[in-house]
Amino acid sequence: MRKKVLAMLLTAAMSVTMLSACGGGREGSSTSDSSDASTEETADAGEDSGDAAEETSSEGFEADATIGIALPWLGTQNWAEAQDMFKEQLEAEGFSAIVQAADQKVATQQQQIESMIENGAKVIVVGPVDGSQLGTVLEKAKDAGVYVLGYDRLIENTTGVDGVVQFGSVKTGELQGQALLDGLKEKKGDGPYNIELFGGGPADPNAPNFFTGAMSVLQPEIDAGNLVVVSGQTDFTQCATEDWDNKKAQQRMDSLLSGNYSDKEIDGVLSPNDGIARAILTACEDAGQPVPVVTGLDAEDESVKLVWEGTQYCTVAKPTKDLVAKTVEIIKSLQAGDGMPPTDVTANNGKVDVAIYELDPTVVTQENAKEVFADDEARMELLQ
Ligand code: BGC
Repeated sequence: MRKKVLAMLLTAAMSVTMLSACGGGREGSSTSDSSDASTEETADAGEDSGDAAEETSSEGFEADATIGIALPWLGTQNWAEAQDMFKEQLEAEGFSAIVQAADQKVATQQQQIESMIENGAKVIVVGPVDGSQLGTVLEKAKDAGVYVLGYDRLIENTTGVDGVVQFGSVKTGELQGQALLDGLKEKKGDGPYNIELFGGGPADPNAPNFFTGAMSVLQPEIDAGNLVVVSGQTDFTQCATEDWDNKKAQQRMDSLLSGNYSDKEIDGVLSPNDGIARAILTACEDAGQPVPVVTGLDAEDESVKLVWEGTQYCTVAKPTKDLVAKTVEIIKSLQAGDGMPPTDVTANNGKVDVAIYELDPTVVTQENAKEVFADDEARMELLQ
């Protein structure tokens, strides 16, 4: 253990020396004031290097440098796609890629990031298992001159992050909430409608944001009596699904149904992603309920088929291809010495305002599926 720590310290010290020798690295970047998300270049250096990005310049790093990709797990299709696409695209650009997934374990992810630092990674891209548990290791990465990019999820409570590439997470939830309302009107006649609410894994910073976005649309309808959450469970903590585990979601749905719906029909369920949507649909089928309106996320193959045949009302597409491409574009900018590209979106991560490179998610229903997937051959094939 001690040997490992020593080796790590040595590697860290070496990387710092190497970086200062070639004048590159993030220490050379200027940053903007944390309250100002402006994209303009300014000579004025802020206090925190994790502040919103502006155009920066540095000497970059070798064109064949090692890039580390730390993914939280491979349990949903988006992460499995990211694993393949990062490897493919980074290698096509001439980089050497270390791509690892942490099976939802915080300690495993911390070790994987440590070893990426030891292996001389110039950029580490992280989809955190737990948004708030990487402070120490990412600050170590920062001290070693490594750029850190959050991927798909915010990295919280640390200055050790240069920017985050993601689909708008509150926006995603708003789309889910609106789609649930639309689906109820379309499929279930006049209200009031009986519904239940599900959230994602509480350690994932996206999950409360998805829920908040959805509730911004649903709460006024609940208050007006148009939607009835029969179980009364409307807090994120009551609705969350530990580790995004579909089995846990199915168990919760089973007990919601047996405890509250023996004498009524459930009309709709807010689901934060496709895996949980399918678990909910299975529980409803097992309980002999008619198919409720259920939302989703990820446009997973299995759910795209269900949306197409009308069983799952909708999903939300957030194409992994676009997210990986945006991340690789930023890595190339860093490599070329152009620093972090400008962006005017920031999110406070509890310590600093983090630059966010935000993409737009899209609701997919049976009606628009062919349009949304027009350029996605694999998904188009599912629409038969
Ligand atoms: C991602 C979703 C995914 C979920 C579970 C979230 O952070 O944004 O696409 O379904 O994690 O893996």
